[in-house]
Amino acid sequence: MSLPPGFLEELRNRTSIASVIGRTVTWDMRKSKPGKGDMWAPCPFHQEKTASFHVDDKKGFYYCFGCHAKGDALTFLRESQNMGFMEAVETLAREAGMTMPARDPQASERADRHSQLIEVCEAAARFFRMQLSTAAATEARAYLDRRGLSAATVERFGLGFAPDSRQALWAHLTGAGVAPDLIIDAGLAARPDDGGAPYDRFRGRIIFPIRDLRGRAIAFGGRALSANARAKYLNSPETDLFDKGRTLYNAEAARKALGAGQTPLVVAEGYMDVIALSAAGFDAAVAPLGTAITEDQLQLLWRLSPEPVVALDGDTAGLRAAMRLIDVALPLLAPDRALRFALMPAGQDPDDLLRAGGPGAMRGLLDGAQPLVRLLWQRETEAQSFDSPERRAALDARLRAALGRINDPGLRGHYAEELRRLQREAFAPPPGRRDRGGKGPGARHSGGRWAPPAQPLPSTRGTLLAAAPDTNPDTDVANHMREAIILATLAAHPTLLPTFEAELDRAAMHDPGHERLRHALLTALAEGASAEAVEEHLRATAPDALDALMNQPHVRIAPPVRNRANTDMAQRCLADEFDKLFARRAAEAETREAMEDMAHLADEGVTWRLGQAVEARHRSERSHLQDTTDLGEDRAALSRQLQDLIDSQIWEKRRR
Ligand code: UTP
Ligand code: MN
Repeated sequence: MSLPPGFLEELRNRTSIASVIGRTVTWDMRKSKPGKGDMWAPCPFHQEKTASFHVDDKKGFYYCFGCHAKGDALTFLRESQNMGFMEAVETLAREAGMTMPARDPQASERADRHSQLIEVCEAAARFFRMQLSTAAATEARAYLDRRGLSAATVERFGLGFAPDSRQALWAHLTGAGVAPDLIIDAGLAARPDDGGAPYDRFRGRIIFPIRDLRGRAIAFGGRALSANARAKYLNSPETDLFDKGRTLYNAEAARKALGAGQTPLVVAEGYMDVIALSAAGFDAAVAPLGTAITEDQLQLLWRLSPEPVVALDGDTAGLRAAMRLIDVALPLLAPDRALRFALMPAGQDPDDLLRAGGPGAMRGLLDGAQPLVRLLWQRETEAQSFDSPERRAALDARLRAALGRINDPGLRGHYAEELRRLQREAFAPPPGRRDRGGKGPGARHSGGRWAPPAQPLPSTRGTLLAAAPDTNPDTDVANHMREAIILATLAAHPTLLPTFEAELDRAAMHDPGHERLRHALLTALAEGASAEAVEEHLRATAPDALDALMNQPHVRIAPPVRNRANTDMAQRCLADEFDKLFARRAAEAETREAMEDMAHLADEGVTWRLGQAVEARHRSERSHLQDTTDLGEDRAALSRQLQDLIDSQIWEKRRR
């Protein structure tokens, strides 16, 4: 039906949203200021004790600061009463004394058809329920009995029985004057392809009516009695009434229970789980309808409760479903839209658990439900080891990708923090075990729980990540040799000291002997010692350090040390060696920081930085081979000679 221009505006102007909503909620009069049209109430869309639902009567809008439900009077009627748009307009217009324009025959037909379909479903539900007390249902009753369902529970869920006959329901409904097309469109019967007589969809099955949020039957689930039936459960097809992905089994009753203060909202996998939960006192229980939980269903869950607990069947399929759900949930998460997961014991669903352990066992599992972030961590780390930088970096990237999918910035920060904490916990070596080469890391399973890798495998000790750079033997040797060549060259060419004063000042040495010599050189400089006096000064202040320096084989044969006459060469060599020493140290510092970050996931760029640091080191060590164009061939050759020397020395040490 089309409305004349201005009709809705006029309707809004004439409607007091506060009086419309006031019929549903109880205002918090301490917080509300009716004179200003400023009204507050506990939110009718989610469960809460405080009044965070705000109605602005002047503007004609409502907004809930808890669940973010918002809209105008029409939205309110549609959302809270499940009215269609036109139904809501009509309701408000009636109250406002406005005449509705003539009905669009097509639209009213559609609305009529909708209620007709519901009528047919309700009639079918009554029929199925009746059938459960007939002689034909003896086996069905025995089955329900075996599964421990009381008469009260059967009644509460309106369970029924579909006789094992081609047209029992069909005959009943058509006999009562229901049009054949309505029966088919309600999903209750199907016409065979060969054009033969329609047949009942549900035959010889226990029937579970599926109801909308207003409690009206819109579809059915049917469970086979025999274990070898074609399908254990058969559900209504999608119809004009039934959108599987937007419906949750038992949502209406769960909402009522939540409203009465029950908590938490439990999300189970199947009909029988919901029924068993409810029978055990967990009335706030719902289930999807044989499909994975959709985004729409999640939104519906959050309308009912800010933190539903998903009860997972304790099998791999259950876990896989949870993992998929995490992906659906991540972008939608918000402070008031969280999820928890309660993992049932292996091979059990909530129904089994309740039977085996009673409500206490269930309560225990629900109380210990894990927040989503824990499952996310488990998913990304389970059954894997992180014994190489690549693997850790890959984990890092996966966690970052997951974080990136969380839209709520505040929540994202808290997730990052928690993941960092979990990562620290997982990768920190247990105290006192650092270098004793204990058991390897990797996935260890104990009682089904994943134990994180504790420390690097012995075989990975030598990798960049596993070994801190200053304990990496190769790095140490190269640094040590570079320090030695710098010091020996300066000692052999004391006239160059003033030129390299700044560099020498910066170049704190790792080797204590080298450090003493560096200080001696700096003091000689500061005291204005003549070139000839420098060596004497060194011999006087650090004689053994000087001997140790000069006795290093590569130092003795290093060209700039040996060739005291060629000051130019020495100068070029020193410039080069200082460059490389600094570049290397910077790269090491980078690597070390990156490694620390890595363990903490503090920096989004950590993987990149790690790569950069390694790259920088390679660059600094290759520089003498590549940047030769404007440096002169002899410098390149010299540099190469020194590098070869260092390399051979490292090789030697490694073999020992
Ligand atoms: P389950 O196989 O876990 O069944 O399927 P259940 O709920 O534990 O049922 P019981 O205890 O064996 O009676 C979980 C849900 O998946 C859907 C149903 O909604 C079921 O409740 N399902 C299962 C189907 O739609 N079709 C099937 O063939 C099986
Ligand atoms: Mn079951």
